[in-house]
Amino acid sequence: MTKTIAIASDHAGYNLKETLKADLVDAGYDVLDLGTDGLDSVDYPDFGYAMAAVIRDGRAESGVLCCGTGIGISMAANRYAEVRAANVHDALSARYCREHNDANVICFGERLIGSEVARDCLRVFLDTRFEGGRHIQRVEKLSTPQLPMKSKGAAAQ
Ligand code: RB5
Repeated sequence: MTKTIAIASDHAGYNLKETLKADLVDAGYDVLDLGTDGLDSVDYPDFGYAMAAVIRDGRAESGVLCCGTGIGISMAANRYAEVRAANVHDALSARYCREHNDANVICFGERLIGSEVARDCLRVFLDTRFEGGRHIQRVEKLSTPQLPMKSKGAAAQ
């Protein structure tokens, strides 16, 4: 079955999103484009959350997120336990985020890296498997944060 990859960006990542989307289509993936659809200013959390929703419900197996820096949109997506989003600037990080962290979303900052670097990182990300082994327990802990919830009165103490 063809793998479905979701892709999303804000306005500052829109051009890179379009470039990477074309590569994914050319490579034969089913691409689920969650927007944005142009250069009009939008808020990156909306697109990070849209990505989290499709990863969570299984509509996409992996995702690609772009904003100006890759930072805000990865922060948004990573607020959900099902998402392991890695903000990547080089091919080695793209490889390790799969091998060690089982990242399911790769993030880019269009204002920070060139499109050829991003294209290369995406290919590496998609072609690299999770190593498993000693990394399994660590990755599972990412989905089960162990800090107690802060009670409402905690700040006043
Ligand atoms: C938009 O100006 C910019 O702040 C956003 O794309 C991103 O870089 C935030 O992390």
